[in-house]
Amino acid sequence: MIKGNFPIEKFKNIETPFYYYDVELLNKTLDLVKKCSTEHNAIVHYAVKANANKKVLSLIAKSGLGADCVSGNEVQAAINAGFPADKIVFAGVGKTDKEINLALDNDIFCFNAESFPELEVINELAKAKGKTANVELRVNPNIDAHTHKKITTGLNENKFGFNMEDLQSACQFIDKASNLKLIGLHFHIGSQITDLNAYESLCVRINELQEEFDSWGIKIENINVGGGLGINYEHPNHIPIADFESYFRVFAKHLKLRDGQRLHCEPGRSLVAQCGSLITKVTYVKKGVNKQFAIVDAGMTDLIRPALYDAYHRIENISSDLEVEKYDVVGPICESSDVFDKDVELNKTQRGDYLAIRSAGAYGEIMASNYNLRRLPLGYLSTEL
Ligand code: LLP
Repeated sequence: MIKGNFPIEKFKNIETPFYYYDVELLNKTLDLVKKCSTEHNAIVHYAVKANANKKVLSLIAKSGLGADCVSGNEVQAAINAGFPADKIVFAGVGKTDKEINLALDNDIFCFNAESFPELEVINELAKAKGKTANVELRVNPNIDAHTHKKITTGLNENKFGFNMEDLQSACQFIDKASNLKLIGLHFHIGSQITDLNAYESLCVRINELQEEFDSWGIKIENINVGGGLGINYEHPNHIPIADFESYFRVFAKHLKLRDGQRLHCEPGRSLVAQCGSLITKVTYVKKGVNKQFAIVDAGMTDLIRPALYDAYHRIENISSDLEVEKYDVVGPICESSDVFDKDVELNKTQRGDYLAIRSAGAYGEIMASNYNLRRLPLGYLSTEL
């Protein structure tokens, strides 16, 4: 059984549960995304929402990527971590005046605007500062990404973006607005997308829209295809890096970019998920009538994905080589949904063993909460232990 690369001896000085980030894997992932995006002439903005741990953010900033933010605090965190402001895009359906002002003050690359009232407010606030705000229109392309219903975003009934019928009037609005400049179109169809055909459909939709824009005589400089590339939660050891090569190839093959147009994307999960594991210690092994429970010191407050989306995360006992038995791995929170997984095959598990809950680098630490007055989990880089 492959146990991964966990320095268990070093874990003994750290209070569990905690997040452990494998820097070597993160860097390999970043190297591959840079190589593929450079080959395909694309600009990558890391989706900060996936993981905003300061140490992780600064490694990603160092690699030269831009940032995709969805709150003023994310814009600030990206700037603090060293992302250049002119590589920061800012999306979100409910940007407040304070957040818009912060972004204007920092001269970010662009606002991904999602509604007419938002365009109005950005224009007013930019005018008050004597600035011109770059905007991309976030388009709801009505494409089914065939992913979990709670993480699909590109269908007509979603709250995100402009409907396609409103695009021409949105362009006219921007044209008339004194302090807005239209610099692109933005799309995002969902998250954990493993079927690349969904991106092919997106390309077809963008090509159709581009023809309309041509017929209206409107030039678009940037096409941002959003994030969403999925990872392999079943086999983090065998498939540790997402297939960026195929991902970029889909756009190269199917998207008809106009002369001088730049392709942008905003991956989150595919950059950081596999390098992170939630490390937890077994507090008790409890025998039930027909099953046994490994009760661990991490709970849904540390990693909410299994409880919220029924998400699967591979779990490994990294302390034991004994024969495999089945356990329900559960946390200590007073909620019956505080279950990481049922009937998990683990090497025989005892009180004090360390378990690694894998592929937890994205939407793990960042979604932690204080419920039950628990301490927020800390995150450690492999290089600092
Ligand atoms: N761009 C936009 C506009 C987004 O809404 C998202 C994610 C991304 C980029 C990054 O998508 P990614 O490459 O990470 O799939 N908490 C959920 C995922 C929510 C994703 C929300 N939007 C989870 O744990 O699965």
